[in-house]
Amino acid sequence: MAKRNVKTLGVLTGGGDCPGLNAVIRAVVKTARTEYGWNAVGVLDGFLGLVEKRTMPLHRTDVSGILTRGGTILGTSNTVDPLHFVKAPGAKPVDITRKVVRNARALGIDALVAIGGDGTMHIAEGLRAAGLEVVGVPKTIDNDLAETDVTFGFDSACQVVSDAIDNLHSTAMSHHRVMVVETMGRYAGWLALVGGLAGGGDIILIPEIPYRLDAVCDGVARRSGLGKRFSIVVVAEGAKPLGGQLIVGRRVEGSPDPIRLGGISGILSTQIEDRTGLETRHVVLGHLQRGGSPTAADRILATRFGAEAVRLVAEGRFGEIVVLRGSEIRAVPIAKAIRRRKTVPLDDPLIRIGRGIGTKFGDEEPSRNKAPARKM
Ligand code: F6P
Repeated sequence: MAKRNVKTLGVLTGGGDCPGLNAVIRAVVKTARTEYGWNAVGVLDGFLGLVEKRTMPLHRTDVSGILTRGGTILGTSNTVDPLHFVKAPGAKPVDITRKVVRNARALGIDALVAIGGDGTMHIAEGLRAAGLEVVGVPKTIDNDLAETDVTFGFDSACQVVSDAIDNLHSTAMSHHRVMVVETMGRYAGWLALVGGLAGGGDIILIPEIPYRLDAVCDGVARRSGLGKRFSIVVVAEGAKPLGGQLIVGRRVEGSPDPIRLGGISGILSTQIEDRTGLETRHVVLGHLQRGGSPTAADRILATRFGAEAVRLVAEGRFGEIVVLRGSEIRAVPIAKAIRRRKTVPLDDPLIRIGRGIGTKFGDEEPSRNKAPARKM
């Protein structure tokens, strides 16, 4: 489909929210209207809006003033999957992609900008196969989408992690405690790694480096033995001990990935206290990491992604997703972007640099001269 055939551009946010979604919506609407003279409509509550035919018109005035706002003015859903749609609790999942494409056409949507993570992009690919003209914009605080150096929302979430660790330092120091801070990130350790290093975490545990409990305890005991008054352990929700299991917090049926991780920090906190005798507390940062105003970096990235997505539509490059490579915005096939998950490579420079400044990752050999833990 070429530029002249688009009259109305749809925009949809799918999956978990994150800071910067509104900045993309704003850029899409303003670019579509200003540069191409197209109408824009927002699909409400993710793919549910296409199932139930619920949209809202998006004029320039509707997106004015939303750049700084967290969340999404369109609403989102991470439990509606038209490829495996569950009509009622307990019912067998059915493929309703053709119906959804018909609905989109009935709503006057000529092309759709789908903003989301891997779950949303899988669905976008399915809808494209069923005839919908779609381009993708990658978002996730987890930064685990392949083919893009970074997703918007990640920087804002790292800032939350770093701010939280800053705040925990003073209370940990006052009480001579170990604090275990749990971040989100699913099966990738980016958020714990980058947010943890930015906050000066002493031990950072990520899914890519299975940890040994004795190494973690040795790390905090040594700090205590050296007279340090506290330790901060940053643990990703997807971290697990060597040979151990992931901690599943809950299952969300109907979601493209029903597993929700969570709870590792409470377990680890008890283990550290039992083994070292050092008073330990844990904090789960949870959805705080998804809230609030986007950082300046995320606002710019989101705006660049939104404007580029409209350009892809104008050029008829459907089935592609915008990505960041170095400092350049490019596009790749959605199918390629969802082929694999982007996890932290073991030779990532940040891990090397972290080790160089004394950050522990829970895989260190226990020291031969065990420093006795004393009250911090
Ligand atoms: O993918 C984003 C994310 O925030 C993950 O980091 C986290 O595991 C998950 O979503 C939480 O999902 P929900 O909002 O359904 O609890």
